[in-house]
Amino acid sequence: MSNDERTFVMAKPDAVQRGLVGTIISRLEERGLKLAGAKFMQIDEELANQHYAEHQDKPFFDELVAFITSGPVMAMVWEGADATRQVRQMMGATDPKEAQPGTIRGDFGLDLGQNIIHGSDHEDPGANEREIDLFFDEEELVDYERSDEPWVY
Ligand code: PPS
Repeated sequence: MSNDERTFVMAKPDAVQRGLVGTIISRLEERGLKLAGAKFMQIDEELANQHYAEHQDKPFFDELVAFITSGPVMAMVWEGADATRQVRQMMGATDPKEAQPGTIRGDFGLDLGQNIIHGSDHEDPGANEREIDLFFDEEELVDYERSDEPWVY
């Protein structure tokens, strides 16, 4: 579909350890977004520094890097209309204590550091493609039709 957009999503180490990866995938799938790539992986410090480079001057940067490298993550690319902004809405506020019920963070978290899911920032143009490029080679992304595509959007 012509207005489809790709966005980067990651189930963070707490989501993996708490068995929430399937739930996260289900929510995005049920919304009508299409999984275009997935990689269960361990992030090393170099990749963490690159991924969070824009936050390197923030006081919580070391904590952020330590957390994201603390265990495996599920890195994913999801595709659909307005995908970046829609995923961010489904994630809920950065601080799960402020996240609305019905959002992923609002339903499953209470801790700002360990907030379950990362999604590309929809207010930072190009962030989605930059993050996808950082984690995936183009040939690792799959193009296919979802059978519900004609009517979901
Ligand atoms: S956001 O979602 O990018 O607009 O949020 P931002 O406030 O800029 O935060 C950037 C990432 O840092 C995480 N974060 C924190 N980690 C630990 N401690 C504190 N205090 C904290 N504040 C923010 C936040 O979850 C963002 O991580 P990602 O992976 O991008 O969601």
